[in-house]
Amino acid sequence: MLIAPGVLALAAEHIRQALPAARHFVVVTSASIWSHWGQMLMDSFLASGESVDVIEMPDGERYKNLSTVEKLSDQLVKLMADRKCVLIALGGGVVGDVTGFLAGVYMRGIRFVQIPTTFLAQVDSSVGGKTGVNLRTGKNLVGVFKQPELVLADPQVLTTLPDREFRAGLFESVKAGVIRNPRLFEFMEENRERVLAKEPAALEWVIAESVRVKADVVAEDEEEQDLRRILNFGHTIAHALEAETRYKYFLHGEAVAWGMIAATRIAEQTGRLSAEAGRRIEDLVRSYAPLPTVDVKPKSIFRRLASDKKTVGGLVHFVLPCEIGRVEIVTDVTERAVLQAVEDIRDLSRAPFPAGVGAPQSQEMGEGSPAR
Ligand SMILES: NC(=O)c1ccc[n+]([C@@H]2O[C@H](COP(=O)([O-])OP(=O)(O)OC[C@H]3O[C@@H](n4cnc5c(N)ncnc54)[C@H](O)[C@@H]3O)[C@@H](O)[C@H]2O)c1
Ligand SMILES: [Zn+2]
Repeated sequence: MLIAPGVLALAAEHIRQALPAARHFVVVTSASIWSHWGQMLMDSFLASGESVDVIEMPDGERYKNLSTVEKLSDQLVKLMADRKCVLIALGGGVVGDVTGFLAGVYMRGIRFVQIPTTFLAQVDSSVGGKTGVNLRTGKNLVGVFKQPELVLADPQVLTTLPDREFRAGLFESVKAGVIRNPRLFEFMEENRERVLAKEPAALEWVIAESVRVKADVVAEDEEEQDLRRILNFGHTIAHALEAETRYKYFLHGEAVAWGMIAATRIAEQTGRLSAEAGRRIEDLVRSYAPLPTVDVKPKSIFRRLASDKKTVGGLVHFVLPCEIGRVEIVTDVTERAVLQAVEDIRDLSRAPFPAGVGAPQSQEMGEGSPAR
């Protein structure tokens, strides 16, 4: 994986170097991403004398499905793409997940490269080799493990990303800091202005450290089967919040932000985490973005947890912090503690945000307003 400002402008060179024998490149993207960054990618191929084809999928999570995969496959056939063809995913997690899956199944598998263009895709979805699409019955239910040959992450592409998307993605980095990287956590505490201003050097560092956490955890997980679960810090309650609001209200990262605060409260209540560390986690989360109000019934959230696909033997697994940089997986969290934590975040979400965070997108976040 290459993480550096300016790497997109040199994409063709890097790709050629990684894949000297590739015959045919096909970019998979969406119209809006292409309008921002397509020219720069094309120019890099023109400069190195290579030709590429481009195929588009519609923008949005609802098109992350088998029908899109089928349409893209037909287009590949029309372009006479054979097993030597290399796909290039230019886009966020949706384009990346679809393209990775397509590469995994087209002609029983061809190679692919990721050029993630959202913060979330750069630190999370492009790392780890999980690809897949949604069914009507649930998210990410059909997929394959498929590693890209190369990932090119250019922080400069984030300049066109809507602020709300950008900030939501940053919570995956906060998560990485809490679970395993206190230096990353401290950096985000001390360099908030630089990060929020999308300063390339600051982002490069945050992206690299976040990726390292995920890549290390995924690699070590092959030996220690449960380790990957720590990546779910904040996600237990986040998934329930997202489902309860029918995926239309929170951006994923915003739900994770609330989920991390809830898990932090549970950790404090159960005597695992000091009040001081708890306050630091909560302050960091709250200082990075104004978050949508939590308007849910705690009971409904608990019911969803109890039926979550990650529930094992009726026990809800929680990832709880014990200090900044270390978490544990806990199976004995009581219903009461969960209800209390959801009530806490509900109350907190109605209080004003700390000074300086502002609410630049507050109109977009009115009750019932769509998250995407
Ligand atoms: N495979 C994995 O391990 C993994 C991990 C986490 C998330 N995911 C998946 O990732 C998806 C979410 O990805 P996402 O948050 O990147 O959302 P996304 O791909 O939907 O992108 C969000 C929005 O930003 C726009 N956009 C993308 N890059 C842009 C840019 N540079 N400038 C301007 N606009 C830009 C997109 O067009 C889209 O409207 C979900 O489907 C989720 O399941 C996968
Ligand atoms: Zn996540």
